[in-house]
Amino acid sequence: MNIGVFDSGLGGLTVVSAIEKTMKGVNIFYVADTKHAPYGEKTPSQIRQYSLNITAYLIATYKIDALVLACNTATSFAIESLRLLYPHLIIIGTEPGIKPAILQSKRGKIGVLATPATLKSSKYQSLAKALSKDTEIQFFEQACHGLVEQIEKGELCSDKTKALLSSWLIPMKAEGVDTIVLGCTHYPLVAQTISHIMKDEVILIDTGMAIGQRLLTLALNKGYHNKGSNLLHVEATGYIVEDMVKKILHRNYSIENISIDNKLK
Ligand code: DGL
Repeated sequence: MNIGVFDSGLGGLTVVSAIEKTMKGVNIFYVADTKHAPYGEKTPSQIRQYSLNITAYLIATYKIDALVLACNTATSFAIESLRLLYPHLIIIGTEPGIKPAILQSKRGKIGVLATPATLKSSKYQSLAKALSKDTEIQFFEQACHGLVEQIEKGELCSDKTKALLSSWLIPMKAEGVDTIVLGCTHYPLVAQTISHIMKDEVILIDTGMAIGQRLLTLALNKGYHNKGSNLLHVEATGYIVEDMVKKILHRNYSIENISIDNKLK
């Protein structure tokens, strides 16, 4: 089984790690669209176009059987178009884990960290509205301007990253927030910094493993046998900090630089 996975950069590798835990005998083709990162500061039509181009590239180059949008922002604006265009492809998106957060929060005060584009999207707005209806749940939403750039640079706990996170988290802590949704696949990479600022009195919700499980269920339904060893190929459309890739995947990696625009011509 060939699985295409993409994100604007390093973040989707947190999802790849989860997929590698649930799936066996698969070929994973990962595209980090660093040329266009951060997606969260782009317009809906730009985000949709990048997602369509990467998917067309993955299908043409690797004949993928499944596609994982390892990006909340791309899922917000492109998953519906992709499902219409490719009805036979298994397509899995990433959505902020609001539901598990509601189940786990004791005080019903939930922080949602996400990109500006994700929080503005009608997909997120309607999900949050539907899930908080008739409940005492209170959401504290924070668009994390600049955080993806810090993570892409490998600054997971630098002074600037800590200052950014503290400016958003300390007010949440004062409000009694006990659960935080990591609504961008980059943010699990700063989970330790977040826990440290919240003094560990917080539950962090990351949906990587749920995506891995969902992919396994859909693959088994299509008759796929879950055995053998996995292959992972990593490509980037622009600059990527290779040490970060190694750190996230816990092994050495050679990364291929690609130009999707040229390959699609
Ligand atoms: N990792 C992505 C997400 O889950 C995109 C972040 C960005 O490029 O702004 O939203």
